[in-house]
Amino acid sequence: MYDMTKMNQVAKAAINQMPPESRFNQEDAAVIDRHTEALLAWGPELVERFYDTAFGHEATNAVFREGERPMREKSLTDFWVKTLTKPIDLDYFGWMAMVGLIHVVRGVENPMMLAMSSFITDFISEKVSQEPTVDAEEALRVVNAFRRFSSTISAIITYGYDSARVNALFDIIGMEESLLQRLTKQTVEKHLGEAGYIMTEKRSFIPG
Ligand code: HEM
Repeated sequence: MYDMTKMNQVAKAAINQMPPESRFNQEDAAVIDRHTEALLAWGPELVERFYDTAFGHEATNAVFREGERPMREKSLTDFWVKTLTKPIDLDYFGWMAMVGLIHVVRGVENPMMLAMSSFITDFISEKVSQEPTVDAEEALRVVNAFRRFSSTISAIITYGYDSARVNALFDIIGMEESLLQRLTKQTVEKHLGEAGYIMTEKRSFIPG
């Protein structure tokens, strides 16, 4: 069962796997706070360009239903406002884990999520570097804050997807995660071996 306690645990487990320097942190939150007004003002352009990009590519376009764009624009606008006006804390990241799963149900794959998460950082990078009132050093701080934000939500979303698959296998055929991990490792090792890679004693691969 998915509830917010469970989702916060998923988020925490993903964040714990990230070296602390790579995580979104409270300084990043403070940097973003200094620019809330400008970031909110860029929202409509971000939303428009986000969906022009997603609708403009065959694989991502295929996810959407006829006439869905206005609803999607509303969800991303709400996401943007929440991100900029509410604390980015564990509850926020738990919510992101849930949002990630909502995408899984619609067949949105991890590469699509990773790409659009980067898209947000790229957009901010472009906008902030053109902003005359923000000096270069501060612009870099804003970009780095969004880079860590994007990495953190991406880590949570992809981890959530992985966990959902593991849970599904357990629910359907009762396969434990440890067994799945062992079988995955063995199978990958076997196929890499067949592809001409041999395991060295140091357990790294060298081409055979
Ligand atoms: C970092 C990237 C993304 C963010 C932050 C984001 C954010 C959101 C949010 C907040 C919602 C509303 C969830 C809810 O109902 O509570 C949503 C829904 C949705 N998003 Fe995204 N999204 C992202 C990427 C994508 C991509 C790449 C696609 C498709 C290729 C996509 C397609 C959808 C669809 C189809 C829904 C509706 C889900 C449903 O209720 O059936 N999103 N998104």
